[in-house]
Amino acid sequence: LRDALSKARRALSGGGPLAVLSGAGMSAESGVPTFRDAQTGLWERYDPTELATPEAWRHDRDRVWAWYRWREHLVSTAPPNAGHTAVARAERHRQVVVVTQNVDDLHERAGSTVVHHVHGSLFAHRCDTCGEPMHPGPPSAAPTDHLEPPRCPRGDGWARPDVVWFGEMLPSAAWEASVSAVTGASAVVVVGTSGLVHPAASLPTLAAETGIPVIEVNPGPSGLGREVDVHLRAPAGRVLPDLLAD
Ligand code: APR
Repeated sequence: LRDALSKARRALSGGGPLAVLSGAGMSAESGVPTFRDAQTGLWERYDPTELATPEAWRHDRDRVWAWYRWREHLVSTAPPNAGHTAVARAERHRQVVVVTQNVDDLHERAGSTVVHHVHGSLFAHRCDTCGEPMHPGPPSAAPTDHLEPPRCPRGDGWARPDVVWFGEMLPSAAWEASVSAVTGASAVVVVGTSGLVHPAASLPTLAAETGIPVIEVNPGPSGLGREVDVHLRAPAGRVLPDLLAD
């Protein structure tokens, strides 16, 4: 790992803008389960990739709403880890743009000032019919697997999480800002993503095709391949402080 780390630090030594692309693995050391981890407790029998779908919302709205409120509660009690802090601290000596697939707010709570959420945010809600923002208040800590969402005051819609479900369009402003962050970077660091879900998974390839060095931080294998110049096989919280230190 030491050789890979010095090679990765050389790739970052350009000093120009840095783009950090993060997935669920970035928040794993904060105690937030990744999407492909086995779920625990109340949710162990549900596959998140089945709950995060428009079909699940149509057929089982109260369960989906309960699940997202539970994650909102879980995330709001989870501390940013050393990886989030290292990314935030890097802003002291270079421009850093975070592009995250995560719907948590741990990058912001660690101090990062430019964060694009390409899959939306747990803390934003909107009417599933008219699209108006809705404010359901803080989630309850009591675990429950059924919860009726608030009705929209403007008609017959319901509050839904303002996150991107499978098959849904990504928020265009966040996506466009992410593409320009990647193509304008002097280096890209991809952290904690299986690289399976598009179009987010295509950003590292876009960087590689633009001749920008790509460093991957992931203890395990991922769907990323030749577009990666250096793969640091270690957890984000352990290696990002060394990788991003001034
Ligand atoms: N540090 C870095 N990476 C880690 C760590 C860690 N401590 N722990 C696990 N990982 C890696 C895993 O090896 C895995 O490759 O994080 C990755 C998590 O992959 P996923 O659970 O698939 O999460 P992600 O890639 O963000 O999923 C993409 O799919 O479910 C949808 O919309 C959802 O944004 C999500 C998207």
